[in-house]
Amino acid sequence: MTIKIKNICCIGAGYVGGPTMAVIAKHCKDIQVNVVDINKKRINDWNSNNLDKLPIYEPGLAEIIIKTRGNNLHFSNLVQENIASADMIFISVNTPTKKSGFGAGKASDLKWIDLCAREISKYACGHTIVVEKSTLPIKTADTIKQILGSSKKTPAGELKTFSVLSNPEFLSEGTAINDLENPDRILIGGEEKESIDTLISIYKNWVPEEKILTTNIWSSELSKLISNAFLAQRISSINSISALCEKTGANIKEVSLAIGGDKRIGKKFLNTGPGFGGSCFKKDILNLIYICNHYGLPEVSNYWSKVIDINQWQTKRISRLVVEKLFGTLTSKRIGILGFSYKANTNDTRESPAINICKDLLEEGAILQIYDPKVSFEQVEYELENCVELDSKKNISKFNWIYSETMEKASEGCDALIILTEWDEFSKIDWGLISDKMRSPAWIFDTRLISNSKEATNYGLNVWNVGIGD
Ligand code: UDX
Ligand code: ADP
Repeated sequence: MTIKIKNICCIGAGYVGGPTMAVIAKHCKDIQVNVVDINKKRINDWNSNNLDKLPIYEPGLAEIIIKTRGNNLHFSNLVQENIASADMIFISVNTPTKKSGFGAGKASDLKWIDLCAREISKYACGHTIVVEKSTLPIKTADTIKQILGSSKKTPAGELKTFSVLSNPEFLSEGTAINDLENPDRILIGGEEKESIDTLISIYKNWVPEEKILTTNIWSSELSKLISNAFLAQRISSINSISALCEKTGANIKEVSLAIGGDKRIGKKFLNTGPGFGGSCFKKDILNLIYICNHYGLPEVSNYWSKVIDINQWQTKRISRLVVEKLFGTLTSKRIGILGFSYKANTNDTRESPAINICKDLLEEGAILQIYDPKVSFEQVEYELENCVELDSKKNISKFNWIYSETMEKASEGCDALIILTEWDEFSKIDWGLISDKMRSPAWIFDTRLISNSKEATNYGLNVWNVGIGD
C-alpha cells in the first residue's frame, strides 16, 4: 500500500534541496514540487530568467530547471502555505557545526531543524510524511517526532498525523545531477511500511528497485555520517602518504594507482590534494567525534579526530612549503591563486582549503591574485573578510588581494602560481604564455597533480607537485 503523493514541499533551497527536487520534478511529472526557503535572494535567483544567476553552479542543472520550473517545480518563500498543502515534506536545511554553547566546535547546530519541525507541526494538514534529507546526528528523528507530536489538530479541529523517515542524500557537488540520476544506492530508514513504500514509489520512477535499501531509522541516520567519515579517512590516508612520497622519491600517482588496483581497496578517492573541503566531511566527523564522546567511547573519537588533524596539517604544510621555496619571505611578492572552490565544477567555497592557504600567505605579506572560473569576487571577499579591508567596487582589496578575471591576469608579475582546485582548464595551461608573464625565478605549486609540469619545466619554471616534490 502506498499513499498518493500530489504535493511535495522541500524546506531549504540549497546545494542539496535545489538539485534533488529538480531531479524529482523531472521524473515525477504528476507531482507538484515546491521548494521553499526563508532566504529571499536565494529564491529570486532560483527564479531568475538568466540561468547564470542560479544560486548554485552544477553541471546539467540549468537544463533540468528550464524544463521543469513553472511546470511542476516551483521556488518560493511561501513556507507555511507550501507546508500546509504538502503530502510529503523534505527537510533540506543547513546543519553546520555549533559555534557556541555545549558541544561548540563539534556538535551539529540543530536550530534550523528544530525551527522547521515546529513550522511543520504548526502548519501541516492531514497526514504528512516528513523526510530528513539533511545529514543529521543519530537520533534526530526522535527530536523531530517529539516536536511534531506536540500539536495534533488544525485550528479547524482536523486531526494531523506524521510519519518520519530518514533518506540521506549522497550527492557530491560538481557531479550532483549525475549522482541523483544514477545513484549507487538510495537509503530509506523508517518504521512505517506505508510511508517507506510511498517514498520508494517516488524513486522507482527512475532508480532500479534493487538499489533502494531500507533500514531502521537510526542505521540510516548513522550510515550517512559514516559514509562521509570513511571517504574523508581515505583522503587523509593518501594525503599523509603524499608527504612520505616527497621525502622518499616515491611518486604518489604511482602509489595510488598501485594500491587502487587491488579491488578490495578500489581506485576512487585516492587523489592527493591540499586537504578535503566542502560543507560535509569536517562537520560530519566532528559530529561523529562528539557522538562517540557522548556515548563514552573516547578511543573511537580519538581515532576519527586524527582524520581531521591530518587534513589540517596537509593544508598548513603547503602554505609553509610555499614560504620556504620563495626564500623564506613573501613580503610584497605576488602569488597567483588558481582555483578557490573546494573542488572543481562547483562555486561552493565552504571549508575550501584555499581559504586557509590564502590567509596564511596574506599573513606572510604576499599580494594574491585570485582566479576561479565560477567563484565570484563577493564570495572570495566573504571568505577572506577577516583578513583585509576591501573596496568592492573595484574588485580590489585595499591591501593585499586582487580578484582576477582570467588565469592570465592572475599570473601577471607573479613569483609563484598555486593550483588549488582541479578545474579542467588548469590541465591545459599554456606554460609558454604564462611563463612570460611571471617574474623569475618563478614557481608553480600544483596541489592537485593536474598540470603538465614537464612542459612548465621546459619553459624554465620551477615546479613542485604534491606527493612528488620538485
Ligand atoms: C561529499 C560526499 O562525497 C557525498 O557523498 C556527500 O553527500 C557530501 O559530501 P562533496 O563534499 O560534495 O561530497 O565532494 P567530494 O567529491 O566528496 O569531495 C570532498 C573533498 O575531498 C573535496 O575538497 C575534494 O577535493 C576532496 N577530495 C576528494 C580529494 O582531495 N581527493 C579525492 O580523491 C576525492
Ligand atoms: P545544503 O548544502 O545542506 O543544501 P545550504 O546552506 O546550501 O545547505 O542550504 C540550506 C538552505 O536552507 C538555506 O538556503 C537556508 O536559507 C534554508 N533554511 C534554513 N532554515 C530554514 C527554514 N526554517 N525554513 C526555510 N528555509 C530554511
